[in-house]
Amino acid sequence: MNQFYEDVIHGLTSGQKSLPSKYFYDERGSKIFQEIMALEEYYLPECEVEILQNRSTEILSEIPFESLDIIELGAGDGSKTVIFLKEAMKAIKHLNYIPMDISPEILEVNKALVSQKLPGLNVEAVAGDYLETISLLKERKNPRLLLFMGSNIGNFPGEKALGFIQFINDFLRPGDFFLMGVDLKKNPHIIRAAYNDSEGVTKKFNLNLLGRINRELGANFDVEAFEHYGVYNPLTGSALSFLVSLQAQRISIGDISINFDRYETIHTEISQKYSLKELDTIAAKTGFSWERHFTDEKIYFSLSLMRK
Ligand code: AVI
Repeated sequence: MNQFYEDVIHGLTSGQKSLPSKYFYDERGSKIFQEIMALEEYYLPECEVEILQNRSTEILSEIPFESLDIIELGAGDGSKTVIFLKEAMKAIKHLNYIPMDISPEILEVNKALVSQKLPGLNVEAVAGDYLETISLLKERKNPRLLLFMGSNIGNFPGEKALGFIQFINDFLRPGDFFLMGVDLKKNPHIIRAAYNDSEGVTKKFNLNLLGRINRELGANFDVEAFEHYGVYNPLTGSALSFLVSLQAQRISIGDISINFDRYETIHTEISQKYSLKELDTIAAKTGFSWERHFTDEKIYFSLSLMRK
């Protein structure tokens, strides 16, 4: 059976039911995520774009190379990255852009957009799971700047975030850079609203996961019998999303039956928020010797530059 099936069964038969958030992004889920990114309450993309627009030159002034590979993990359509790449083309003589993403389709969009906006930039897209495909880049000689934007680090639970940054550090050579987009701790009301938008788009995004399990694994979830619940816990800095079963019910996925008590929850996502101090500790723990944070005016979001 496929990995999706195994992960779903494992998650739904555990004591606290859970589903991995990476499965949000089927075709429908990716479209709903685009809607989330356009929401007033979901402040993250706007803050990140503000930093890219106002501070890319400053970020690049820290990078002293004439040749550079800019490698982007989970690059998506590249629409935000072009802001940075445009400045990088001015600052760096020999520049290569290597967008990496699981989806070959989105990389086609990325390549088309980048070559239209930045003709002359060498783009070498790599499709596949970047945890595996990154090893294809091992032999490249140029210094590296690795990009991991969009606060995607927040979706790694606890120690796994550290493990991932360590993995990146292991891939880099001394002197290379890592630029990571991180959502910062702030007024809890603002964070809570970002994951409980008034138009119900986040609810649709969360419920689509059950729809996907129905469509791809032949399950019989009554999506209407579940509700979205998003909380932010300032003690831990975690925004957590759940699906709540509104009644006692039994669903089936193939031959497997799964019972839900009334109000039993499925944990679907963590979106961890960090303070700048915590980021300093993480950088030090994962083998980076230097870092500098570039934030937006409101200090909601950081592009944190680290050097190995
Ligand atoms: C992709 N990721 C950084 C988003 C986040 O903020 O955790 C996913 C998301 N989930 C609900 N809204 C947005």
